[in-house]
Amino acid sequence: MECTKMGVPLEGFGDKVRETAAEGMVLLKNEKQMFPLTKEDHVAIFGRCQINYYKSGTGSGGAVHTAYTTNLVEGLRRYKEISLNEELVQIYENWVKENPFDDGGGVWAGEPWYQKEMPVSEEMARKAGETSNKAIVVIGRTAGEDQDNAPVEGSYLLTKEERQLIETVAGCFEKTAVVLNVSNIIDMSWLETIQNKAHVCSVLYTWQGGIEAGNASADVLTGAVTPSGKLPDTIAYDIADYPSTENFGDEERNYYAEDIYVGYRYFETFAPEKVQFPFGFGLSYTEFQTQVTRAKVQGEGKEAVAVIEACVTNTGAVYSGKEVVQVYYEAPQGKLGQPVRQLAAFQKTGLLAPGESQKLTFTIKACQLASYDDSGVTGYKNAYVLEEGTYGFYVGTDVRNAGQVLFAEGKGLKIPSCVVVQSLQEVLAPAEAFQRLRPGRLSEQGIYEKTEEDVPLQSVSLKARIAENLPEEMEITGDRGITFSMVQEEKTSLEAFVAQFTKEQLARIVRGEGMCNPMVTPGTASAFGGTAPSLYRYGIPAACTADGPSGIRMDSGLQATQMPIGTMLAASWNPEMMEELYEWEGKELLRNQIDTLLGPGMNIHRSPLNGRNFEYFSEDPYLTGTCAAAAVRGIGKTGAAATIKHFACNNQEKGRTTADSVVSQRALREIYLKGFEMAVKEGKARSLMTSYNPLNGHWTASNYDLCTTVLRGEWGYEGIVMTDWWAKMNDPVEGGKGDMKNTAAMVRAQNDLYMVVGNGGSQENIYEDNTLEALESGNLSVGELQRCAMNICRFILESPVAKRPLKTPEELEKEAGSFAFVPVKLIPEKEETMRLSIEHTGRYKFFVKLRSGLSQQAQSSCNLLLNGKPVATVQTNGTGNEWNLIKLENIYLEPGDYQAALQDVKAGMEIAWVEVCR
Ligand code: BGC
Repeated sequence: MECTKMGVPLEGFGDKVRETAAEGMVLLKNEKQMFPLTKEDHVAIFGRCQINYYKSGTGSGGAVHTAYTTNLVEGLRRYKEISLNEELVQIYENWVKENPFDDGGGVWAGEPWYQKEMPVSEEMARKAGETSNKAIVVIGRTAGEDQDNAPVEGSYLLTKEERQLIETVAGCFEKTAVVLNVSNIIDMSWLETIQNKAHVCSVLYTWQGGIEAGNASADVLTGAVTPSGKLPDTIAYDIADYPSTENFGDEERNYYAEDIYVGYRYFETFAPEKVQFPFGFGLSYTEFQTQVTRAKVQGEGKEAVAVIEACVTNTGAVYSGKEVVQVYYEAPQGKLGQPVRQLAAFQKTGLLAPGESQKLTFTIKACQLASYDDSGVTGYKNAYVLEEGTYGFYVGTDVRNAGQVLFAEGKGLKIPSCVVVQSLQEVLAPAEAFQRLRPGRLSEQGIYEKTEEDVPLQSVSLKARIAENLPEEMEITGDRGITFSMVQEEKTSLEAFVAQFTKEQLARIVRGEGMCNPMVTPGTASAFGGTAPSLYRYGIPAACTADGPSGIRMDSGLQATQMPIGTMLAASWNPEMMEELYEWEGKELLRNQIDTLLGPGMNIHRSPLNGRNFEYFSEDPYLTGTCAAAAVRGIGKTGAAATIKHFACNNQEKGRTTADSVVSQRALREIYLKGFEMAVKEGKARSLMTSYNPLNGHWTASNYDLCTTVLRGEWGYEGIVMTDWWAKMNDPVEGGKGDMKNTAAMVRAQNDLYMVVGNGGSQENIYEDNTLEALESGNLSVGELQRCAMNICRFILESPVAKRPLKTPEELEKEAGSFAFVPVKLIPEKEETMRLSIEHTGRYKFFVKLRSGLSQQAQSSCNLLLNGKPVATVQTNGTGNEWNLIKLENIYLEPGDYQAALQDVKAGMEIAWVEVCR
């Protein structure tokens, strides 16, 4: 797996990171010419995060080993014309040295969401004010998998110390700005209640911008870049205002009672007064005027198209800038009920100089405006319909500030009578009765009253559906000498190749191995395909996956580039730029011999409390789908793949493997699946990860309608589907208890790969999965397994790994060497045993006895170093503190005397000994 530049971040990638990060920053307030800073200013920065500037959230989505990061102070110092209050910086630097960043011991999900703040006395602030005319207070937050945000201080709310800090500083500085270096929107109601609030002139979300976070923030603060980001989520005054809050956080079951009324769809329809900053909002240093210059409806009925032209002019005098024009629509309430605004299209202008204009044209097809009738109330059950009435359009720069478009033909696009746009079938309907929100009477103030209706329940037989659609079984031919490369060279068909596999081999190919599999790039998440020797013999290579989403995570310590978090990218509203960024990412994947990145994450921000929101894009499905499609296309251009995840409804971390998301079919189709549909259809995604949670009673990895009827049937997806790591499955028909061993259910649903059995575990079934047992009992057919095997092989055929030469069995044997070796036990506690003498070049096996007291999904890793160089990465998740034995095979060693050592990469495991054998 050697590659000279493996682990060396791609030259030039950092510049692209900086550009996209600057583009995603959202300015919520800017008065008294606080920003941009000028050469006349002298700036005092408060808050420890000016130094401990977050580049990302935590967990698998944040654990990129980077060559460097940048913080705000360094970023600003690069602008020589800006004077910083270096005395204050010094005070902070000293304090941070004495009060180091608390990483929670470096263990999985151990890092706290906030850091202790340095107390700042009035005297200290006043003293800073003697030399500085402007102050910036930096507030930092992180988040990550396995833990949600909470509506408590230090998470969604400011801590008392942070609030105090802002008050003290604003008491001494008439021009105070708050910079939010956060992974997610946080409570902003303090802006209304805080003391000295009139002095808080500016608020800027700088989010977490990857390795260039500090430089990009400085670019915006100094005006080198004019901010042009827009909120991808609504900021309401109170967490209790979000309609999901009531049903968030249960470990067993969450009712999605707000249905399609997520984010601004809810607020604009039912509670506009609860909004502090609307969806799509963000200021610039300059001003723009957006004028609709032409609006026309062409065609009729479902074929109609609304064409809207808008002209954007930079009406400011000093700064160049970019503006995002957003088009919303309002569908008639009809029988289904509708939100009063839904995003239909958006475009960002180029950089407009003062006085410069740009014309933007939006073409919106009527069929894009259709809604899904899951009850039959319109007369067309299970169809996308356009109900009768006028569909109005609003153009503007956020959901609130968008004026109605007047068409030559009237107020919008007219549908004379209800028309079906697409007839589908019932899928994924909940089995459990609950009520969902819908608009009732319209008040004089233009607000809809909240009413409820019963959610339509499941009425189809999954048993019959699965039986009717069973794939044809190919007769197992046994080895006919057809190799993988013969399929590659199109000398034979994929079918003939796969037909050779025995039942055992079929059961093996659906097992992914990991983490840190020695057959692929060190420290990555998994290997699959030819991991079992019996499959490798056919010439199937081992393909490699790595986290994701915002950079390559290699727990071996190999370095890569960290990009901005997903939410920040969405806030740029610039899919073209995202596509370019992800093309860079694709190139870095190729350099590291990784076939697919485990990202982008793209679940809907149903609640600001989801701990993984930072990996995802937005509360809006159209913005989400546009971003995801751009990321998938960008990576796809290089030949590597993106894995869209977590399919679907992984909308909270608490009880993430148990909490059932109970959702109506309409909300699934219009909100939670929509982005995935766009990533598949527009982005041409070919790799997808299901989620940990059950959805309407079926764990997603064994959810037939999700992975087969919708994904492959309706959307035409032809790629691979993998589980999340150590996911559970249950019966695709009956539901019931989730079980990690139920791979038969997984295969039946057409989730092709189980991620992950331990290394070496695919050949030997170390996880004791039930695939073969189910074949015997008739609960699974050979055809179903062959179908998954075909999906996997098809993916690998199109992946970078298929282009690299594969070692022949003879070469492998030669590399392995034929010699005997007396096992050596290395015991970390006994320093004198940590020596190893190797006489022959060859491949060795390591047995590692380890345990971890962390939770089942918690990941820890550690490198085994020989003479200071990592030769193997040991990885485990929580073992309930029981001792486990894991095997690492194929470790290539050359002759020499070695001093062995262990090096924690992600703390949390205890190693009793490592036995080196042949
Ligand atoms: C996460 C996935 C990630 C996988 C591999 C899981 O804990 O949920 O998003 O890709 O680990 O690291």
